[in-house]
Amino acid sequence: MSERRVITGAGGQLGRALAEAFPDARALTRADWDVTYPPPEGLEADLVLHAAAWTNVDGAEDDPQSAAAVNVGGTLNAASLGAPLVTWSTDYVFDGTKRAPYLESDAPAPLGAYARTKLHAEAAAGERAWVVRTSWLHGPTSRNFVRTMLRLGAERDEVAVVDDQRGSPTYVGHLAEATKEIIGLPYGVYHVAAGGDCTWADFAEAIFEEAGLATRVRRITTAEFGARAPRPAYSVLRSEKGAPELPHWREGLRACLARLDMS
Ligand SMILES: NC(=O)c1ccc[n+]([C@@H]2O[C@H](COP(=O)([O-])OP(=O)(O)OC[C@H]3O[C@@H](n4cnc5c(N)ncnc54)[C@H](OP(=O)(O)O)[C@@H]3O)[C@@H](O)[C@H]2O)c1
Repeated sequence: MSERRVITGAGGQLGRALAEAFPDARALTRADWDVTYPPPEGLEADLVLHAAAWTNVDGAEDDPQSAAAVNVGGTLNAASLGAPLVTWSTDYVFDGTKRAPYLESDAPAPLGAYARTKLHAEAAAGERAWVVRTSWLHGPTSRNFVRTMLRLGAERDEVAVVDDQRGSPTYVGHLAEATKEIIGLPYGVYHVAAGGDCTWADFAEAIFEEAGLATRVRRITTAEFGARAPRPAYSVLRSEKGAPELPHWREGLRACLARLDMS
């Protein structure tokens, strides 16, 4: 019998990359399965790649219960299929007070509502799960920092970008490929993010440089930017458990730009 793999959130940036990496999987978008509801009748799975999530970090501050319904309730519903599950969590489960990479054994201390729902979702995934904490995702589709910078860069001579948050921008294509390796590891929490680290301002400069744009980056603080949700000042992730190592973030950026669809 062939394996029955199911992808949730298949319309999102990671979901699409997973659908490419696992071409035989049944890729379900939100229209196919709103994960705040139990699984569609008759849906069977041997492996669930659960990429559906509420990812609006600032919006979760205003509506934490809806964020929890998707992230916690949705993960419970995905786990109710009874199959081993891969779910993706976030570097934002940490408060960012450390100044060396966060390891799987470090204690989470989420700062905002989104991060709290994601930490609860880790538990909701249950015992037969790989919880993959990753960071600063970007890809050729959906809303993400790379696409936003390219749009702003085409419109403006200068863009103000936060320079006091440090992390590892991770290309969804690299993460999706690594998932093939992750499902060969024991269940548990794994940190899987791009190699190297930078600030958002460094990342923006690299985006403009790689895209051949002359746009300047004005480096500002988190306080000056004034986002609704608090974010960790430092959230570099590394694995002490033999999780797959991804290529350097700059390589991920080049791979993303090579695939970009700005529609
Ligand atoms: N983006 C990041 O920087 C980042 C960093 C670390 C970890 N992660 C985690 O990585 C995973 C994938 O994130 P992503 O960047 O691919 O996010 P994304 O592009 O926002 O994709 C999430 C997908 O989930 C769908 N969705 C939302 N509510 C749903 C529901 N009730 N039922 C079914 N589908 C629903 C969304 O559909 P709509 O578009 O219709 O809302 C979207 O297609 C998430 O677990 C996220 O928390 C993301």
